[in-house]
Amino acid sequence: MIALEHVSKRYGGVAAVDDVSLTIPTGEVFGIVGQSGAGKSTLARIVNLLERPDSGTVTVDDVELTSLRESDLRAARRRIGMVFQRFNLLNSRSVRGNVELALELDGTSRQDRRARAQEMLDLVGLGHRADASVHELSGGQQQRVGIARALAARPSVLLSDEATSALDPETTTSILELYRRINRELGLTVLLITHEMDVVKSTCDSAALIEAGKVVEQGRLVDVIKTPGSRLTGQLFPLGPIPEGVPADATVIDITFAGGNADRPVIARLARDHGVDVSILGAAVERIAGTQAGRTRLEVPGEVAASVIADLRGQGLLVEVLQGVAA
Ligand SMILES: Nc1ncnc2c1ncn2[C@@H]1O[C@H](COP(=O)(O)OP(=O)(O)OP(=O)(O)O)[C@@H](O)[C@H]1O
Ligand SMILES: [Mg+2]
Repeated sequence: MIALEHVSKRYGGVAAVDDVSLTIPTGEVFGIVGQSGAGKSTLARIVNLLERPDSGTVTVDDVELTSLRESDLRAARRRIGMVFQRFNLLNSRSVRGNVELALELDGTSRQDRRARAQEMLDLVGLGHRADASVHELSGGQQQRVGIARALAARPSVLLSDEATSALDPETTTSILELYRRINRELGLTVLLITHEMDVVKSTCDSAALIEAGKVVEQGRLVDVIKTPGSRLTGQLFPLGPIPEGVPADATVIDITFAGGNADRPVIARLARDHGVDVSILGAAVERIAGTQAGRTRLEVPGEVAASVIADLRGQGLLVEVLQGVAA
């Protein structure tokens, strides 16, 4: 488990990380999402203490990193593998040499280094390119080498800072699948830092939303999508503003469906039971944390809105009112 408690970091007048408390359960793929400048990379550097926070504590696998001396910290940091956006590979070394680098400072024998590097390259699908030069590889392949290197020292946590943002969509998908496989097969906790909600949607179990250095929301996605007013959910289902032309006296609601709830029968039944026309203004269906989930925006005549909303909530659906009754 990774636990940050009341962590803050200022650069001059900027509160890059501002009183952040965050718990990342063992074995999860956890997303940290937020706009550029929100403080994500600063937070990532604080997790492995490349950057010391001004205040607060960082605990990884029951070891409080913030209380360690620099020499003990070096050993503790090996529990955390890091993958960077710009790969940070050495061009002068072979693919294998880059992966072995992670083991050179800790007394691993040459033979063991070589075996471990080969094992990790096989895992990321590059076992056959071990002798190639780094510059002969594509961006996606280089990122796989970066992941193999990060895994070489057997960390319990893999920390990835925008590791896919320089890659095309297809390559991004394959790298994200690799993260999920590593999480599943090696049991690693994976911390994915990203500005892309799609990365969270496709890959993460849980997420935290960061704004101006603060965590404004965090939780398991399956719970988040059931939380009224969730900002993360709003970004998971980007339905945008209410379309123009919707009468001012109509009620507009968003219904969120999770866990295989199909929206069609619900809406058809609404129209039937309440004897009203319900217009669908927008809909988004997504696969989130392995669950089918969707959000549908409806326009309901004002006079029946209260009973329609009560009916839907009675069925256990999340209903949020954007305009009209109880808005
Ligand atoms: N070493 C530094 N010195 C001074 N200011 C810094 C430093 N690192 C980060 N900052 C500032 O802290 C804030 C957060 O930066 P950070 O890099 O953590 O954001 P980010 O969320 O990773 O953004 P991006 O999505 O663009 O990578 C920004 O205002 C940035 O200018
Ligand atoms: Mg960053």
